[in-house]
Amino acid sequence: MANHDSSDVLIVGGGAAGLSLALRLAADARVTILAKAALTEGSSLYAQGGVAAVLNAEDSLEAHIEDTISAGAGLCRRETVEYVVRRGPEAIRWLIDLGVPFTREPRDNGADDYHLTREGGHSHRRVIHAADATGRALETTLEARVRAHPNIRLHEHHIAIDLITSRKLGRRGENRVLGVYALDKAAGRVTTFDARFVVLATGGASKVYLYTSNPDTSTGDGVAMAWRAGCRVANMEFVQFHPTCLYHPRAKSFLITEAVRGEGGRLLLPNGEPFMHAHDARAELAPRDIVARAIDYEMKRRGLDCVHLDISHKPAEFIRTRFPTIYARCLEFGYDITRAPIPVVPAAHYTCGGVMTDLAGRTDLAGLYAVGECACTGLHGANRLASNSLLECLVFAQAAAADIGALLPQAAPPTADLPPWDESRVTDADEAVVVSHNWDELRRFMWDYVGIVRTTKRLQRAQHRVELLKEEIREYYRNFKITNDLVELRNLVLVAELIIRSALERKESRGLHYMRDYPNPYPQLAQRDTVLTPPRPVVAGARASA
Ligand code: FAD
Ligand code: SIN
Repeated sequence: MANHDSSDVLIVGGGAAGLSLALRLAADARVTILAKAALTEGSSLYAQGGVAAVLNAEDSLEAHIEDTISAGAGLCRRETVEYVVRRGPEAIRWLIDLGVPFTREPRDNGADDYHLTREGGHSHRRVIHAADATGRALETTLEARVRAHPNIRLHEHHIAIDLITSRKLGRRGENRVLGVYALDKAAGRVTTFDARFVVLATGGASKVYLYTSNPDTSTGDGVAMAWRAGCRVANMEFVQFHPTCLYHPRAKSFLITEAVRGEGGRLLLPNGEPFMHAHDARAELAPRDIVARAIDYEMKRRGLDCVHLDISHKPAEFIRTRFPTIYARCLEFGYDITRAPIPVVPAAHYTCGGVMTDLAGRTDLAGLYAVGECACTGLHGANRLASNSLLECLVFAQAAAADIGALLPQAAPPTADLPPWDESRVTDADEAVVVSHNWDELRRFMWDYVGIVRTTKRLQRAQHRVELLKEEIREYYRNFKITNDLVELRNLVLVAELIIRSALERKESRGLHYMRDYPNPYPQLAQRDTVLTPPRPVVAGARASA
C-alpha cells in the first residue's frame, strides 16, 4: 500500500461502535476503518450478557432511565441517559434487521419471542442476548456487512499512533483534526491517513491493570491520542471491576457473565456459605461495584484467593443451553458448572471515563468524534449499569453518523499535503526488554495501588511511579523506531496518570471510586465530573513529543 490514504471519514476501531458507525455512514461517505489487530478483535467480540433496551410492555423507558441513573451514583447526565435509553429499541431493531441472531424462547400462547435476561441493577428483564456470546453474534454480523460494502476500506493490523492536527503542524486558523499516523504492523512502516472527519472508537483502557476481563486491544489509545491533541478527558477514576472472572492460572480472566447471577447463580465462600446478603439487600443482583467490593472485602478479610459462583442447582440442560460458551470453556479447565461451584475473582472490566463528548459524539477538537468505551458521554456516571455499554456504542454511532452526514456536504476536502512520519532521528530499539518490563511494572502497581479500594497514600505512591515510568518511556519514544508495544505502553502510562490524577482529585467515595480515607459520598460532589484539561501541545511536526 502507498504511504498515504485519503477518505471522508476515518474510523479508528472495529468494535461495536466503529463498525456500526461505518455502516450507518457508508451510503453517503467514503469510509476507512483502522484496526490494530484483526478487524473484530476487541471487547465487543467477547461481550456475553447482551444489550440493555426496553423491549416489552411490562418494562418502561422511565424504569431503564431510573435504573441507569441510580447505578451512576449521582453523576449521570440525565439528558444523555434519556437520549440513549429512548433510542435503545430502534438500535435493537436495526441489529435484528441486519440479521443478529438474538436468542428466542417459546411463549405460553405457542408463539415465540426474544428472550430477555436480567442483570445487576436492572429492575426488569431487559437484556437481549445471543445465548452467552452476544458480542460474537453482533460482531460477525456487522463484519460481514462491512466487508461487503463498496464504500468501506479496511486496514487491519494498523495501529494509530497519533492524531494530526492543524495546531500540531503550526498551521493558522481553527485547530482541526486532519488525519492520523498509523503503523502498518506487518510492513513496519508508518502511513499517513488524511480525512475530513476522524472518529475514535478505540475501546477502553482496562489493560492498564494486571487482571482484566478485556482483550489485549484495550490500552486506552483513543483517550491518550485525544488528550495529546488537546481534548478534555473526564471521570477516569471510575474503573469498573467485574465481580466474576474465572480464577485459573490459564484462564486469563475469562469472564463469567453477570447473567449467571441474573438466572439465579449464588456467590459462596469456599465453605459453601453465601455472603452477599450481608453486604446488600439485593444480594447477588446488587450493582457491580457493590458485588466486586464485597468479594474483595471477603477475600482480604479471610485471606482467600477467590470466592465461588454456583449455578449447579439449576437443571443441567438449562445451563448448557443458556450458557454454552461458559460451560464449554469451564470444562476445558476441569470445571463442570452443571455440577459444582466455580472459583471466581474480580478483574478490571470497563472504563467509565474517557474523551468528553456531546450528544453527537463531538469532542473538543473540530472534526474529531469519540464513540463507544473511549468516550465519556455522561451515560454511566460513577458506575455503568450492566449491558448499557453496547447500547451506548450503537446509539452514539448513529448520533455521530447523523452529525457527520449533515456536515459532510459543506466540509473542506481532506488535507493532501500532510507531512510524512519523521523517522530521521531514531534508530532500531536495542532493548525491547525495557518496554516489556515497564508494561509489567505499570500494570502491577495499578492493580495494587489504584484498584477496587484506594487510599490517598497508595495513589500518591502510584503517581510517583508513573512519573518515573513516563520519563523513561518518553526517552525511549524519542530515540527509537516505533513499535506496537511502544505505542501501547506510551498510551497506557498516560492513561494511568489520568486515572490516578482523577482519583486524587475526588476526595470522596462514589460509585466505583472507593477511598478508604474518604469512605462516604459528599453531596456537594454529586453532579460534579472530574474534568482534566490537557496542556497545549508544544511540539510542531510529524512526531510529537511523548
Ligand atoms: P472495542 O470493541 O473494544 O473495539 C475497539 C477497537 O479499536 C478494536 O478494533 C481495536 O483493535 C481498535 N483499536 C484500539 N486502539 C487502536 C489503535 N491505536 N489503532 C487502531 N485500532 C485501535 N457490554 C455490554 O453492554 N454487554 C455485555 O454483555 C458486555 N460483556 C462484556 C464482556 C467482556 C468479556 C468484556 C471485555 C466487555 C463486555 N462489555 C459488555 C463491555 C463492552 O463489550 C465494551 O464496552 C464495548 O464492546 C466497547 O466497544 P467499542 O467499540 O467501544 O470498543
Ligand atoms: C456480563 O455479561 O456480565 C458483562 C455485561 C457488561 O459488562 O455489561
